[in-house]
Amino acid sequence: GLPARVRIHEVGPRDGLQNERAIVPVEVKAEFVRRLADAGLTTVEATSFVHPKWVPQLADAEELYPRLTGPDGPSGVRLPVLVPNERGLDRALALGARDVAVFGSVTESFAKANLNRTVEESLTMFAPVVDRAKEAGAHVRGYLSMCFGDPWEGPVALDRVVDVARRLLDLGCDELSLGDTIGVATAGHVGALLTALDDGGVDNTRLAVHFHDTYGQALANTLAALRHGVTTVDASAGGLGGCPYAKSATGNLATEDLVWMLQGLGVETGVDLGRLIATSEWMADRLGRPSPSRTVRALSHK
Ligand code: HMG
Ligand code: MG
Repeated sequence: GLPARVRIHEVGPRDGLQNERAIVPVEVKAEFVRRLADAGLTTVEATSFVHPKWVPQLADAEELYPRLTGPDGPSGVRLPVLVPNERGLDRALALGARDVAVFGSVTESFAKANLNRTVEESLTMFAPVVDRAKEAGAHVRGYLSMCFGDPWEGPVALDRVVDVARRLLDLGCDELSLGDTIGVATAGHVGALLTALDDGGVDNTRLAVHFHDTYGQALANTLAALRHGVTTVDASAGGLGGCPYAKSATGNLATEDLVWMLQGLGVETGVDLGRLIATSEWMADRLGRPSPSRTVRALSHK
């Protein structure tokens, strides 16, 4: 069966924008988050407290985050932020963030490219981050990248994913988001991984799925995940995105495409599709190119 309701974890302002070359002004980012919240999204991943040289687009996190939590910011919305290490956590906690995410990799190649660490070293780096975040009362998400395939290493075995997933959850992460960073997953593979995780003692209801739409499979993959008990789905408004450290990663599953499918299935999301599309059109104007989302294009007002 399918869940009655799905929580969409909107990643547009973070995963969507992190790869944009031209720096998006901080007021535009703040407005983007506000509009997403107005469209009914209850979780909007706002930015990353990473090294500014690694992700220049998000170097304004200290300017952006207080705008979102101040009087002009959206209310009643969770604003998770990425923190790779204690330095990132300190920056986030200092601004009052209580919703953070660490981000690990199944594969050594991506761990090195994204974090300058081995898989083992990254888990060691995350341990005090998760501990201290929990002590501060924060909700902690763990991301796990390259769960289906890696651009350098090729296919990724299920048991490797189960192993790193369990270790991230054992650190104390409240939820774990399975990333198909380069979008190579297909629906049968998703079902096989979720079954392997379940067999390995990972409760699928603690999982989220994070699909990139490189091969146009993100919706089919999402449906397979929902049939395995997953109720949290990551998506990016307008299908913005990519990853600066993973060649061939295209945009995330577009939030509009997801909402369109879920509406058709009678699954509640709380999102107003018209308002969301208007937001993606507004953002497309700011970025100077049209949204790649099929649903945005089909329902476009232009
Ligand atoms: P490093 O070079 O190994 O850093 O990078 P370090 O620990 O050696 O520190 C070097 C210097 O950086 C020090 O300064 C630190 O203070 C500073 P110095 O003492 O030399 O003056 N530093 C920092 N400054 C600000 N904020 C920080 C920070 N940390 C250290 N947090 C590091 C290691 C993890 C920092 C770096 O690799 C990094 O920032 N990586 C982030 C990469 C990233 O954001 N990638 C995109 C997100 S992941 C993704 O998109 C995938 C996902 O969507 C899921 C999917 O699709 O699969 C989540
Ligand atoms: Mg991603």
